[in-house]
Amino acid sequence: MSRGVLFCLGLWTVFCCSVESCVLRSVRVQVPEQLQAGTEVSKVNLRGCVVRELKTSDPDFFVRSDGTILTSHVTTVTARGRLFWVWVYDERGDVMKVDVSLTSRAEEPRRRSAGSAVLRRTKRRWSPLPFSITENENPPFPKEIDVIGSDSSVNYTVYYRIVGPGVTAHPVGVFSVDTRTGMLKVNKAVDREEFPQFVFTAHVYDVMTKKETDLPLPVTVIVKDVNDNAPEFTAPLVFTVEEQCIPDTVVGKVNATDKDEPNTPRTLIRYSLMNGTDLFFINSFNGVIKAKTSNLDRETKDKHYVSIMIKDMGGTAEGRSSTQTAVITVTDINDNPPTFREPLLKARVQENQADKLILRIPVDDKDAEGTPNWKAVFVIAKGNENGSFKIETDPKTNEGLLYVIKPLDHEKGEVVKLEIVAQNEAPLTGTTLSWVSVPVEITVGDEDEGPEFSPSIIQFRVKENVPNGTLIGTYTAKDPETKSSKGIKYYKISDPANWISLSESSGELRTANTVDRESDYVSNSMYNITVKAVDESRKTGTGTVMIFIEDVNDNMPRITEPSRVVCETGGTQGYTVVTADDPDLTPYSKPFTFELGEGADGKWRLKEDTSSSMLLEPAVDLPIGEYKVPLIVKDLQGFGEEQMVTVRVCECVTEEKKGEGVCKAQRHSASLGVWAVLAILLAFLLALLLCLLLMFVCSTAREKLYIDDGTGGMLLKSNTEAPGDEVKEGALLLTPASAVDITTKGSAMEQQFGTGPAAATAGQQTLQGSASMFQNVSKDFMTTETHNMTDYYASGRYGTGVYGDMYAKYSSLSTFDTWKTNEIYLDKKLDFFGEEEDDRFAVDLLRVHGYEGEGSLAGSVGCCSNLSDQDNLDFLNSLGPKFKTLAEVCMNRRGEE
Ligand SMILES: *[C@@H]1O[C@H](CO)[C@@H](O)[C@H](O)[C@H]1NC(C)=O
Ligand SMILES: *[C@@H]1O[C@H](CO)[C@@H](O)[C@H](O)[C@H]1NC(C)=O
Ligand SMILES: *[C@@H]1O[C@H](CO)[C@@H](O)[C@H](O)[C@H]1NC(C)=O
Ligand SMILES: *[C@@H]1O[C@H](CO)[C@@H](O)[C@H](O)[C@H]1NC(C)=O
Ligand SMILES: *[C@@H]1O[C@H](CO)[C@@H](O)[C@H](O)[C@H]1NC(C)=O
Ligand SMILES: *[C@@H]1O[C@H](CO)[C@@H](O)[C@H](O)[C@H]1NC(C)=O
Repeated sequence: MSRGVLFCLGLWTVFCCSVESCVLRSVRVQVPEQLQAGTEVSKVNLRGCVVRELKTSDPDFFVRSDGTILTSHVTTVTARGRLFWVWVYDERGDVMKVDVSLTSRAEEPRRRSAGSAVLRRTKRRWSPLPFSITENENPPFPKEIDVIGSDSSVNYTVYYRIVGPGVTAHPVGVFSVDTRTGMLKVNKAVDREEFPQFVFTAHVYDVMTKKETDLPLPVTVIVKDVNDNAPEFTAPLVFTVEEQCIPDTVVGKVNATDKDEPNTPRTLIRYSLMNGTDLFFINSFNGVIKAKTSNLDRETKDKHYVSIMIKDMGGTAEGRSSTQTAVITVTDINDNPPTFREPLLKARVQENQADKLILRIPVDDKDAEGTPNWKAVFVIAKGNENGSFKIETDPKTNEGLLYVIKPLDHEKGEVVKLEIVAQNEAPLTGTTLSWVSVPVEITVGDEDEGPEFSPSIIQFRVKENVPNGTLIGTYTAKDPETKSSKGIKYYKISDPANWISLSESSGELRTANTVDRESDYVSNSMYNITVKAVDESRKTGTGTVMIFIEDVNDNMPRITEPSRVVCETGGTQGYTVVTADDPDLTPYSKPFTFELGEGADGKWRLKEDTSSSMLLEPAVDLPIGEYKVPLIVKDLQGFGEEQMVTVRVCECVTEEKKGEGVCKAQRHSASLGVWAVLAILLAFLLALLLCLLLMFVCSTAREKLYIDDGTGGMLLKSNTEAPGDEVKEGALLLTPASAVDITTKGSAMEQQFGTGPAAATAGQQTLQGSASMFQNVSKDFMTTETHNMTDYYASGRYGTGVYGDMYAKYSSLSTFDTWKTNEIYLDKKLDFFGEEEDDRFAVDLLRVHGYEGEGSLAGSVGCCSNLSDQDNLDFLNSLGPKFKTLAEVCMNRRGEE
């Protein structure tokens, strides 16, 4: 306050002083007609004025800072004189004007007096000076101004007339002239603000001739200003200022004008504040309003009406003034935090409920409604560590909306305590207050829930292969309300391998079957079951049991592929890789030890390969063929047994990988099945044929052949004569490969066939030539064959085929040498081959038959096919007895005949 008073006092002092001392008066001087450059003309009295700058309106003159007026260059001052202004700029930027009027010294200025003086002046024809009147003069009118006189009045009797604005043009009739004397008069008050000056023309005429005696004279009448206008506000006074702004914050600027002559005291406006000075002050020179204190509070008063006065004449008593009320609106800042209406908030929510609005929290905020200073933002400061709650703001009511978003558990806490802080969208400013918080107590309602396993996933261990009924563990559930397991029953939901039994009442888990770690139900030694608990009110809960099955050494290493092939290439025999596997884990598994078992007979040897495999190779040069190699494979614990590896030594088709070959011969194996059937068929047909032959013989040449005693006796004889002897040596072990060997002797064999020492020949001999048909068939057969060893066999079987289809599978003719005596042996063999339908031996043999059947077979069979009235080959399986029957029939028929 005291500061404000001081300020006002200071202001007043400056005001008064400046008004009193700095009064500028207009300058009038007489000067010579001709002025040299730099001539001192006059001086403006600047005493008491604080001058910043001085300027002249006439470039012929300049002003020094002390007010001295000088000529800039050679200057002439005519009889009319010169009128210009000196502008005085003060410190505050205000401008004052000083009139400077220079008159030529040659002639004295003439004042409204002497007409005689006119006569004296010779060089001048008209009065020179501009005339001036004062605006808004008081009556009476007309008032005389001055005389306009022409020099021609010396020689003529003249009269004057004036024309132009203010006389004959708008505003008409302001001025008039006495025609005789030339006295100019003003007839009414003139407003400078409307007509600052008048320029009209004066004419002078001779009374006698009515002719102009002089040139027309332009007459200027300047209207002098008086302070007849009060300053005006140019705009409505509406200002805004932020609350709690610091002192000296600009509120706004009052703009004012004054119609009076600019740059004169009459337009020098001073501003003042009539009331409200405790909060605001105004710069009296420029009208800028500023805040005086920082106590402006929108929440207390948001609009201030202050009266502002403007006064001209520099604010002095004689000045004119205007007053207007300014409206200063205080704008809002966020200096009020939202506050809660209650010190503690309470809410209730049932457990296991989610996404539910549980509480509306009203708040108050004094700041301007709807602004970011008012809009509340809620934050849960404490108690929401588990993210169970969410809070939002109702945009309409500004209330906080508290939601439960995750189900709460009554058993984990009956009351949840939260702390909620209310904030604004805008940060707090201009206040020492901070955000307010409120405690919230949420009661969690209880609900009867199903039993719960704890933990929800449990892990147990058990060794595999433990006896049935071994306890694995106990997995129980509790009622969350009572914390008791009473009355809860347990059931399995899933137990994929059905290994576990679960006690309904106690939750004990026992093995119900042999637990096998190597089972497909187990992954990574883990076996999962899920169980459920059911309480008395039939509410359920589920749990998972992960059973870790410990390994025991219950598996021996097994050779994964016991059929191996050793390839012979270019006379050298390679090796094969024997791999074993053990599903147990270390240390019950790899590395394995491989040993040759007894019976390997030094023919084989092993070489190190990997921890689970060995290289097996012949130790000596082995003939092509198949070998059974006993191998003992043991795991790290020495657990293992002898296993057989079947190794074929053969020429390979390809050997994709070292030690992995495919035998050449096996290539045809797929088609040999067909050949086998055909061969069997052929054998049967031949048997039939033989039968027919027999019948034929029986009926036509009974004297030559008598087959009464023993069905095979005669045939046996022929077979003993069959070429069996020749192949006897290797016949029993004959393989297709060795058969090929014999083929090299093909031509010899062929020859043999041609001459007939083969089985066919034998048969022929036995049948004592009566089997010519047989021979023909045989010959047909042969001629269509490619003559190799297979034919040989074929012919051999041809002869023996009579005795049974299965016998036909034999390649070894030598076997037939003793077939009669070794019937038991043959039966055994037959059984053996009968069992092993796809056996390689059978295949190899059948391949021989296959070749037989090629080409000519159809023809050969064709002749006999009408004898076999059906294609059913089933009887081939029991041909032996049938043949007997056939023979009997045959015999009977013979008997009948
Ligand atoms: C008046 O007349 C006289 C004589 O004729 C002449 O010398 C003089 O210049 C005239 N004066 C004017 C002002 O014309
Ligand atoms: C005063 O004049 C200034 C400049 O012309 C202007 O910016 C301001 O808004 C005016 N003040 C008022 C209250 O009209
Ligand atoms: C100042 O004066 C004006 C006009 O008389 C009035 O409307 C206003 O309320 C006054 N203000 C104060 C703060 O007294
Ligand atoms: C959060 O969850 C944990 C475990 O579920 C519980 O122990 C704790 O009490 C919970 N905290 C609150 C504040 O609810
Ligand atoms: C367990 O019982 C099952 C059948 O009930 C039986 O097959 C299995 O061998 C038994 N296992 C043991 C380790 O006793
Ligand atoms: C048993 O459960 C565990 C955990 O869920 C899982 O990683 C594993 O694969 C499951 N095992 C089986 C065999 O399903």
